[in-house]
Amino acid sequence: MYKLYSLLLLFILSGVSCSGDKATLDTDASLKYCEQQVNRSLPLLKESFKIPRNILSDESSGNWNCTSIYDWTSGFWPGILWYLYEYDHDENIKKAAERFTAALYPVVDRKADNHDLGFMMYCSLGNGYRLTGNEEYKKVLLRAADSLATLYDLRVGTIHSWPGMREKMGWPHNTIIDNMLNLELLFWAAKNGGGEQLYKIANRHAEVTMENQFRNDFSTCHVVVYDTITGNRIKQVTHQGYADSSMWARGQGWAIYGFTMCYRETRNPAFLETARKAADLYLSRLPEDMIPYWDFDAPGLPEEPRDASAAAVVASGLLEMSLYMQDEVDAEKYKSAAVKILASLSSPAYQSREHNQAFLLHSTGHKPNNSEIDASIIYADYYYIEALIRLDKINKTGAI
Ligand code: GLY
Repeated sequence: MYKLYSLLLLFILSGVSCSGDKATLDTDASLKYCEQQVNRSLPLLKESFKIPRNILSDESSGNWNCTSIYDWTSGFWPGILWYLYEYDHDENIKKAAERFTAALYPVVDRKADNHDLGFMMYCSLGNGYRLTGNEEYKKVLLRAADSLATLYDLRVGTIHSWPGMREKMGWPHNTIIDNMLNLELLFWAAKNGGGEQLYKIANRHAEVTMENQFRNDFSTCHVVVYDTITGNRIKQVTHQGYADSSMWARGQGWAIYGFTMCYRETRNPAFLETARKAADLYLSRLPEDMIPYWDFDAPGLPEEPRDASAAAVVASGLLEMSLYMQDEVDAEKYKSAAVKILASLSSPAYQSREHNQAFLLHSTGHKPNNSEIDASIIYADYYYIEALIRLDKINKTGAI
């Protein structure tokens, strides 16, 4: 009886109602479901330096596997807590957000050795500063931005995403499409006392990436390798996708989200146009339930794993994109695509509910490496709750 009641409650809290086979979205119920899952996780997460990263599909406990504060994903859990606090104003959630955010301070004491500093610090401290104005967060964020900027190569015009690949792969300088998201930290810092140079670096990085990371059809490659003497592109390759010429789903998501954000910060219409063309291609190739396979060109389709994380990143990016459309029909097109994606992510097929403590199932981290396949992954949850909050705000105020 208790189990039946729990299942019924979880279904109600999942925020989905079904009419025919189409799921419709109840944003508030979906956010309440996120709140419920966080409140299941928190009592088990006692040590703030152990940060939730994934729950693999064969993990019987349903509990988070944690990672160190130095892992590239460390900012997402505190970020989730900040978004939840923004929604429910619960002081216990705020305390937890503060606890996990403060645990990340030592990250800036290390010299930046990859682009991920933006993900780690902006998703956590950035949201914390936005919601609380805590000056300590601002200080740490400004240090993080300066540290990230040390990876900028003047001749190439981009941040060096993975310096370790110079020796490992013989790549003089590489930039990955994911790096677009880390520019938000630089744009923020430039507006908050960090100096105009940070804006210039972020803007130039986006311009060079726009030139080099896209193919003619506006699909992206994961990695571009550059020559540090001439500054020219050497080649387009993949690392986490299926092939050098394929469309890795999350990479396309980073491009859609990243160029939309760069338009917000620069008002360069070419950035918005790039984001839009990348989105149009992405949307035109989705399966019926709007959740992509991990790579649109993977060889075993349709028997390939999905990537709910890519769907969540894209939903959040499309909601912002919809705000920048001049034409109402275009605005509605991107908003309604985002709502359909969120409705699908909020349906029983993609929700963790009684399976584990995450929000979402069925993300794929690094398929060629055979890691985190068909798993719950923390960044899927982060962009899912961010998108729900964005949608809620758009519906209430017309802005994010
Ligand atoms: N490299 C970040 C990602 O897996 O998307």
